[in-house]
Amino acid sequence: MRISGLHRVGLQVPDFERARDFYHRNWGLGLIGTEGQQASFRAAHSHQCDLQLCAGDEARLDHIALSVATEDMMRSLLENLERQGHPVTEAPRPGRRQGEALVACFDDLDGNRVELVVPSESDGPAAEATRDGEAEGPLKLGHVVLWSPRQTEQEAFYALLGFKVSDRTHIGMSFLRCNTDHHSLAFVNSNSGRTGLQHLAFDVGSIDTVMRESARMRDEGNPCIWGVGRHGPGNNVFSYYQDPAGNVVEYYGEMDVFEDTSPVEERFWGPEHKGDVWGISGPPPAPFHD
Ligand SMILES: [Fe+2]
Repeated sequence: MRISGLHRVGLQVPDFERARDFYHRNWGLGLIGTEGQQASFRAAHSHQCDLQLCAGDEARLDHIALSVATEDMMRSLLENLERQGHPVTEAPRPGRRQGEALVACFDDLDGNRVELVVPSESDGPAAEATRDGEAEGPLKLGHVVLWSPRQTEQEAFYALLGFKVSDRTHIGMSFLRCNTDHHSLAFVNSNSGRTGLQHLAFDVGSIDTVMRESARMRDEGNPCIWGVGRHGPGNNVFSYYQDPAGNVVEYYGEMDVFEDTSPVEERFWGPEHKGDVWGISGPPPAPFHD
Protein backbone atom coordinates (compact mmCIF):
# COMPACT_ATOMS: atom_id res chain seq x y z
CA MET A 1 0.00 0.00 0.00
CA ARG A 2 1.74 3.13 -1.14
CA ILE A 3 1.49 6.17 -3.32
CA SER A 4 2.78 5.72 -6.85
CA GLY A 5 4.34 9.05 -7.72
CA LEU A 6 4.54 12.80 -7.55
CA HIS A 7 1.43 13.96 -9.38
CA ARG A 8 1.60 17.74 -9.33
CA VAL A 9 3.10 20.80 -7.64
CA GLY A 10 1.07 23.96 -7.01
CA LEU A 11 2.78 27.33 -6.57
CA GLN A 12 1.49 30.74 -5.54
CA VAL A 13 3.21 33.58 -7.37
CA PRO A 14 2.87 37.36 -6.93
CA ASP A 15 3.20 38.24 -10.63
CA PHE A 16 0.91 35.66 -12.16
CA GLU A 17 1.15 36.75 -15.82
CA ARG A 18 4.96 36.80 -15.81
CA ALA A 19 5.22 33.40 -14.13
CA ARG A 20 2.66 31.90 -16.51
CA ASP A 21 4.61 33.17 -19.53
CA PHE A 22 7.88 31.88 -18.08
CA TYR A 23 6.63 28.32 -17.56
CA HIS A 24 4.98 28.23 -20.97
CA ARG A 25 7.33 30.22 -23.25
CA ASN A 26 10.68 29.65 -21.55
CA TRP A 27 10.38 26.51 -19.44
CA GLY A 28 8.51 24.74 -22.24
CA LEU A 29 5.51 23.24 -20.44
CA GLY A 30 2.27 22.83 -22.35
CA LEU A 31 -0.44 25.23 -21.19
CA ILE A 32 -3.62 23.26 -20.48
CA GLY A 33 -5.55 26.42 -19.72
CA THR A 34 -5.97 29.58 -17.68
CA GLU A 35 -8.98 30.23 -15.48
CA GLY A 36 -8.93 33.65 -13.86
CA GLN A 37 -5.70 33.87 -11.88
CA GLN A 38 -4.94 30.15 -12.11
CA ALA A 39 -3.03 28.31 -14.83
CA SER A 40 -2.45 24.59 -15.44
CA PHE A 41 0.50 23.08 -17.28
CA ARG A 42 1.63 19.66 -18.30
CA ALA A 43 4.88 18.11 -19.45
CA ALA A 44 5.28 16.39 -22.81
CA HIS A 45 4.91 12.81 -21.57
CA SER A 46 2.21 13.56 -19.04
CA HIS A 47 -1.58 13.14 -19.18
CA GLN A 48 -2.32 15.41 -16.27
CA CYS A 49 -1.81 18.83 -14.79
CA ASP A 50 1.80 18.67 -13.46
CA LEU A 51 2.15 22.29 -12.41
CA GLN A 52 -0.49 24.69 -11.24
CA LEU A 53 0.16 28.39 -10.75
CA CYS A 54 -2.15 30.69 -8.84
CA ALA A 55 -1.87 34.34 -7.95
CA GLY A 56 -0.93 35.13 -4.33
CA ASP A 57 0.69 37.85 -2.23
CA GLU A 58 4.06 36.09 -2.11
CA ALA A 59 5.96 33.28 -3.78
CA ARG A 60 5.19 30.11 -1.86
CA LEU A 61 4.36 26.47 -2.21
CA ASP A 62 0.59 26.05 -2.50
CA HIS A 63 0.44 22.24 -2.42
CA ILE A 64 1.99 19.03 -3.57
CA ALA A 65 -0.14 16.23 -5.00
CA LEU A 66 0.76 12.54 -4.86
CA SER A 67 -0.83 9.89 -7.01
CA VAL A 68 -2.34 6.66 -5.73
CA ALA A 69 -3.46 3.91 -8.09
CA THR A 70 -7.00 3.14 -6.90
CA GLU A 71 -9.80 4.54 -4.76
CA ASP A 72 -9.49 1.57 -2.38
CA MET A 73 -5.81 2.30 -1.89
CA MET A 74 -6.55 5.98 -1.33
CA ARG A 75 -9.08 5.18 1.39
CA SER A 76 -6.70 2.69 3.07
CA LEU A 77 -3.90 5.27 3.15
CA LEU A 78 -6.25 7.93 4.57
CA GLU A 79 -7.54 5.53 7.25
CA ASN A 80 -3.99 4.65 8.19
CA LEU A 81 -3.04 8.35 8.51
CA GLU A 82 -6.05 9.00 10.76
CA ARG A 83 -5.22 5.94 12.90
CA GLN A 84 -1.76 7.43 13.41
CA GLY A 85 -3.27 10.75 14.51
CA HIS A 86 -2.99 12.71 11.26
CA PRO A 87 -6.37 14.19 10.32
CA VAL A 88 -7.68 14.18 6.77
CA THR A 89 -8.80 17.76 6.05
CA GLU A 90 -10.83 17.04 2.90
CA ALA A 91 -12.50 13.67 2.31
CA PRO A 92 -12.28 12.10 -1.17
CA ARG A 93 -14.26 14.01 -3.82
CA PRO A 94 -14.29 14.05 -7.63
CA GLY A 95 -11.27 15.89 -9.02
CA ARG A 96 -11.62 19.01 -11.14
CA ARG A 97 -8.24 19.19 -12.85
CA GLN A 98 -7.12 17.39 -15.96
CA GLY A 99 -6.08 13.81 -15.23
CA GLU A 100 -7.60 13.79 -11.72
CA ALA A 101 -10.46 11.35 -10.97
CA LEU A 102 -10.57 11.65 -7.19
CA VAL A 103 -8.80 13.91 -4.70
CA ALA A 104 -8.43 14.10 -0.89
CA CYS A 105 -6.31 16.42 1.28
CA PHE A 106 -4.32 16.53 4.49
CA ASP A 107 -1.45 18.57 5.89
CA ASP A 108 2.01 17.17 6.52
CA LEU A 109 3.92 17.94 9.73
CA ASP A 110 5.26 21.25 8.37
CA GLY A 111 1.78 22.39 7.36
CA ASN A 112 2.31 21.75 3.66
CA ARG A 113 -0.96 20.98 1.94
CA VAL A 114 -0.80 17.49 0.44
CA GLU A 115 -3.37 16.24 -2.04
CA LEU A 116 -3.81 12.54 -2.73
CA VAL A 117 -5.02 11.93 -6.28
CA VAL A 118 -6.42 8.92 -8.09
CA PRO A 119 -5.51 9.76 -11.70
CA SER A 120 -7.93 9.46 -14.60
CA GLU A 121 -7.16 8.90 -18.22
CA SER A 122 -6.53 12.23 -19.90
CA ASP A 123 -9.94 13.65 -20.69
CA GLY A 124 -9.14 17.31 -21.16
CA PRO A 125 -7.93 19.25 -24.15
CA ALA A 126 -4.37 18.69 -25.32
CA ALA A 127 -1.90 21.15 -23.92
CA GLU A 128 -1.14 24.08 -26.20
CA ALA A 129 2.17 23.59 -28.03
CA THR A 130 5.14 25.39 -26.53
CA ARG A 131 8.08 26.30 -28.79
CA ASP A 132 7.46 25.78 -32.48
CA GLY A 133 9.78 23.25 -34.05
CA GLU A 134 12.11 23.11 -31.06
CA ALA A 135 12.68 20.63 -28.27
CA GLU A 136 9.49 19.14 -26.90
CA GLY A 137 10.20 20.59 -23.46
CA PRO A 138 10.24 18.84 -20.10
CA LEU A 139 9.12 15.21 -20.33
CA LYS A 140 7.72 14.86 -16.82
CA LEU A 141 7.58 16.43 -13.38
CA GLY A 142 10.32 14.59 -11.49
CA HIS A 143 10.74 15.67 -7.88
CA VAL A 144 10.11 18.31 -5.27
CA VAL A 145 12.50 19.27 -2.47
CA LEU A 146 11.15 20.78 0.75
CA TRP A 147 12.84 22.67 3.57
CA SER A 148 12.05 21.23 6.98
CA PRO A 149 13.04 21.95 10.59
CA ARG A 150 11.71 18.48 11.55
CA GLN A 151 13.16 16.30 8.85
CA THR A 152 13.18 13.03 10.86
CA GLU A 153 9.50 13.39 11.74
CA GLN A 154 8.64 14.29 8.14
CA GLU A 155 10.46 11.20 6.88
CA ALA A 156 8.40 9.07 9.31
CA PHE A 157 5.20 10.80 8.19
CA TYR A 158 5.91 10.20 4.49
CA ALA A 159 6.90 6.60 5.30
CA LEU A 160 3.23 6.10 6.20
CA LEU A 161 2.53 6.80 2.51
CA GLY A 162 5.18 4.32 1.39
CA PHE A 163 8.23 6.56 0.85
CA LYS A 164 11.64 5.04 1.51
CA VAL A 165 14.95 6.85 1.97
CA SER A 166 17.39 6.23 -0.91
CA ASP A 167 20.30 8.48 0.13
CA ARG A 168 21.37 11.02 2.73
CA THR A 169 24.04 13.71 2.68
CA HIS A 170 26.23 15.34 5.32
CA ILE A 171 24.50 18.71 4.77
CA GLY A 172 21.20 17.25 5.96
CA MET A 173 19.42 16.21 2.80
CA SER A 174 17.38 13.03 2.51
CA PHE A 175 16.14 11.65 -0.81
CA LEU A 176 12.94 9.60 -0.79
CA ARG A 177 11.54 7.26 -3.43
CA CYS A 178 8.06 5.91 -4.01
CA ASN A 179 8.58 4.19 -7.36
CA THR A 180 11.58 3.19 -9.48
CA ASP A 181 12.98 6.76 -9.63
CA HIS A 182 15.85 7.38 -7.18
CA HIS A 183 13.81 10.18 -5.59
CA SER A 184 10.49 11.92 -6.11
CA LEU A 185 10.65 13.85 -2.84
CA ALA A 186 13.55 15.16 -0.79
CA PHE A 187 13.97 17.10 2.43
CA VAL A 188 16.66 19.56 3.34
CA ASN A 189 17.23 20.32 6.98
CA SER A 190 16.52 23.91 8.04
CA ASN A 191 18.07 25.28 11.22
CA SER A 192 16.16 28.54 10.85
CA GLY A 193 12.72 26.91 10.86
CA ARG A 194 12.17 27.32 7.15
CA THR A 195 9.48 25.25 5.42
CA GLY A 196 8.13 25.07 1.87
CA LEU A 197 9.82 24.73 -1.50
CA GLN A 198 13.58 24.46 -1.97
CA HIS A 199 13.20 23.46 -5.62
CA LEU A 200 11.08 21.52 -8.06
CA ALA A 201 12.48 19.54 -10.96
CA PHE A 202 11.52 18.36 -14.42
CA ASP A 203 13.08 15.47 -16.32
CA VAL A 204 14.24 16.50 -19.79
CA GLY A 205 15.83 13.12 -20.65
CA SER A 206 19.51 13.04 -21.54
CA ILE A 207 22.62 15.02 -20.73
CA ASP A 208 22.48 16.41 -24.28
CA THR A 209 19.03 17.85 -23.66
CA VAL A 210 20.11 19.33 -20.33
CA MET A 211 23.03 21.04 -22.12
CA ARG A 212 20.94 22.27 -25.05
CA GLU A 213 18.20 23.60 -22.79
CA SER A 214 20.81 25.33 -20.64
CA ALA A 215 22.18 27.15 -23.70
CA ARG A 216 18.69 28.10 -24.87
CA MET A 217 17.68 29.39 -21.44
CA ARG A 218 20.89 31.47 -21.26
CA ASP A 219 20.23 32.91 -24.72
CA GLU A 220 16.70 33.84 -23.65
CA GLY A 221 18.02 35.75 -20.63
CA ASN A 222 17.44 33.06 -17.98
CA PRO A 223 20.95 31.84 -17.15
CA CYS A 224 21.55 28.72 -15.11
CA ILE A 225 22.19 29.62 -11.42
CA TRP A 226 23.89 26.28 -10.61
CA GLY A 227 25.23 23.69 -13.04
CA VAL A 228 25.45 22.07 -15.42
CA GLY A 229 26.82 19.34 -13.15
CA ARG A 230 26.11 15.79 -12.02
CA HIS A 231 24.76 15.06 -8.54
CA GLY A 232 26.04 12.17 -6.42
CA PRO A 233 22.68 11.14 -4.93
CA GLY A 234 20.56 10.03 -7.88
CA ASN A 235 23.44 10.46 -10.35
CA ASN A 236 21.36 12.94 -12.34
CA VAL A 237 22.78 15.69 -14.52
CA PHE A 238 21.43 18.96 -13.11
CA SER A 239 20.92 22.60 -14.05
CA TYR A 240 19.01 25.06 -11.88
CA TYR A 241 17.21 28.30 -12.78
CA GLN A 242 14.89 30.75 -11.07
CA ASP A 243 11.39 31.59 -12.20
CA PRO A 244 10.25 35.26 -12.11
CA ALA A 245 8.95 34.75 -8.55
CA GLY A 246 12.35 33.47 -7.39
CA ASN A 247 11.38 29.79 -7.14
CA VAL A 248 14.28 27.48 -7.98
CA VAL A 249 13.44 25.05 -10.75
CA GLU A 250 15.62 22.31 -12.24
CA TYR A 251 16.07 20.63 -15.58
CA TYR A 252 17.63 17.22 -15.03
CA GLY A 253 18.36 14.02 -16.90
CA GLU A 254 19.71 10.50 -16.50
CA MET A 255 18.59 9.93 -12.90
CA ASP A 256 19.20 6.48 -11.39
CA VAL A 257 16.27 4.12 -11.75
CA PHE A 258 15.92 1.11 -9.44
CA GLU A 259 14.43 -2.24 -10.29
CA ASP A 260 11.18 -2.47 -8.36
CA THR A 261 12.07 -5.75 -6.69
CA SER A 262 15.72 -5.23 -5.81
CA PRO A 263 16.57 -4.12 -2.27
CA VAL A 264 18.25 -0.72 -2.10
CA GLU A 265 20.61 0.16 0.71
CA GLU A 266 20.48 3.70 2.07
CA ARG A 267 23.66 5.47 1.02
CA PHE A 268 25.43 8.32 2.87
CA TRP A 269 27.35 11.06 1.05
CA GLY A 270 29.96 12.60 3.36
CA PRO A 271 31.77 15.97 3.31
CA GLU A 272 34.03 14.82 0.47
CA HIS A 273 30.94 15.21 -1.73
CA LYS A 274 30.46 18.83 -2.87
CA GLY A 275 27.21 18.47 -4.80
CA ASP A 276 28.71 17.99 -8.26
CA VAL A 277 30.72 14.82 -8.87
CA TRP A 278 32.39 16.45 -11.90
CA GLY A 279 33.74 19.29 -9.74
CA ILE A 280 32.76 21.88 -12.35
CA SER A 281 29.86 23.72 -10.75
CA GLY A 282 31.26 24.81 -7.40
CA PRO A 283 29.12 25.07 -4.29
CA PRO A 284 25.40 25.79 -4.53
CA PRO A 285 24.48 29.51 -4.64
CA ALA A 286 22.48 31.61 -2.15
CA PRO A 287 18.97 30.31 -2.95
CA PHE A 288 20.13 26.90 -1.66
CA HIS A 289 21.30 28.31 1.68
CA ASP A 290 19.08 28.21 4.77
FE1 LIG B 1 16.78 18.26 -7.75
